[in-house]
Amino acid sequence: METNKIKRGYLTRQEEKEIAKENKQQIKRLEKEKKRKKTLDEYTSVMRDENNLVEFDNLNTNFFTERGVVKAVNGVNFSVKKGATVGIVGESGCGKSVTAMSLMRLIQGPMGQITDGAIRYNSRDGTVYDMAKMPIKEVYKIRGKEISMIFQEPMTSLNPVVRIGNQLDEVSKIHLKSICPKTGNEIPMTKEDAKARSIDMLAKVGIPAPEHVYKRFPHELSGGMRQRVMISMALLCDPSLIIADEPTTALDVTVQAQILELLKVIREQFNGSIMLITHDLGVIAEMADYVIIMYAGRIIEEGTVDELFYNPQHPYTVALHKSKPTISSEGNRLFNIPGNVPNPINMPTHCFFRGRCSHKCERGEAYPELVQISETHKVACFRAQDEIERKKNEPVIDIVANNTETTATVDGEKPKKKAPAKKTATKKATKTSE
Ligand SMILES: Nc1ncnc2c1ncn2[C@@H]1O[C@H](COP(=O)(O)OP(=O)(O)O)[C@@H](O)[C@H]1O
Ligand code: SF4
Ligand SMILES: [Mg+2]
Repeated sequence: METNKIKRGYLTRQEEKEIAKENKQQIKRLEKEKKRKKTLDEYTSVMRDENNLVEFDNLNTNFFTERGVVKAVNGVNFSVKKGATVGIVGESGCGKSVTAMSLMRLIQGPMGQITDGAIRYNSRDGTVYDMAKMPIKEVYKIRGKEISMIFQEPMTSLNPVVRIGNQLDEVSKIHLKSICPKTGNEIPMTKEDAKARSIDMLAKVGIPAPEHVYKRFPHELSGGMRQRVMISMALLCDPSLIIADEPTTALDVTVQAQILELLKVIREQFNGSIMLITHDLGVIAEMADYVIIMYAGRIIEEGTVDELFYNPQHPYTVALHKSKPTISSEGNRLFNIPGNVPNPINMPTHCFFRGRCSHKCERGEAYPELVQISETHKVACFRAQDEIERKKNEPVIDIVANNTETTATVDGEKPKKKAPAKKTATKKATKTSE
């Protein structure tokens, strides 16, 4: 039936009805589960590694649309270490924002739902919460306080009819405390303390005359200033994790550079972790310690910055590098990855990148699972995995002191003598040049 729908390119009335019925049932079940009163142990967990701040474990986030189910995030597993900056890269629509929004529990329901998996968050009080199952009232205690977010478009993220100062003070008043001068007890942050903190934060992110900007409306500021305000808002509660979702995409190039510089300064001063979402590999190279490459809702490669820049394995990562403009490529046509991402409603069972891959290895309908190829490097590509296996078993050429070539295998087999290489290739080349 699925194939018929794809071939036709439209849905019949009957099919639409069936999809609507199925969506209704699924949404009803998931909403009921979300609203169910839960005990603490139902949404607390243990970390796989205590050095991690966040662990995404088989996260699935779907959108139940009238044309079918969009699997925006499809079984994502990765972790963010304490104090590390993790970059998430991929072209538009690959599920970067939905992954971050799932952690913040900002997925727009009832259409959008986390359907499976866990998001473990190692909170400040030592409890590990499963953010995917946590009741929304409990999420409020963490969102904005321990985890904050910098959005792509500051103009739409700031309230246009509320002064900057009031928007900043609100965050402090909700999450922070003052000490009552009379009783010495903690009370919600006072107006005066909140104002002082907001002005201090505006100054920290490099806003000149912060007392003046405190009284302005968002439209009175430039794009770069607005993004600085968003960053100061994210820093107000001294969070453990900052999620920056394409923080420089909506800004022009010079302002982008300033904001990046600011993020770098923050990274040095701030001892929490950063999840940096971008489609700009240049930003990743400057900022990240570890990189996740996403494609069509899945992770296709992950590793340290050095691994993904000097030794990329997945054809998609290689193509992303190729499509980066460089100074030496001036005047040449910029490389673009041919084809499109498969339709998110009818994802194939085989490798999602096969239609655009220059190698197009044929492995039937199997999907390549993410396989560890070094302690920190993982890749989901049959060809790359085969290459690595082949290289592991390949003889290593070892030049011994007397200049005789011998061969040894990586796993320490006895070296064998090797016949000297024939010089046919050189001879042939000389002949042609004559
Ligand atoms: N509210 C929504 N309704 C339906 N589909 C959505 C919605 N939000 C996101 N999606 C789909 O989820 C996928 C991932 O989106 P997103 O995470 O925003 O991509 P990006 O990697 O550009 O941040 C896309 O295919 C998008 O169409
Ligand atoms: S698994 Fe095959 S088709 Fe998919 S990216 Fe690797 S080489 Fe290309
Ligand atoms: Mg996005």
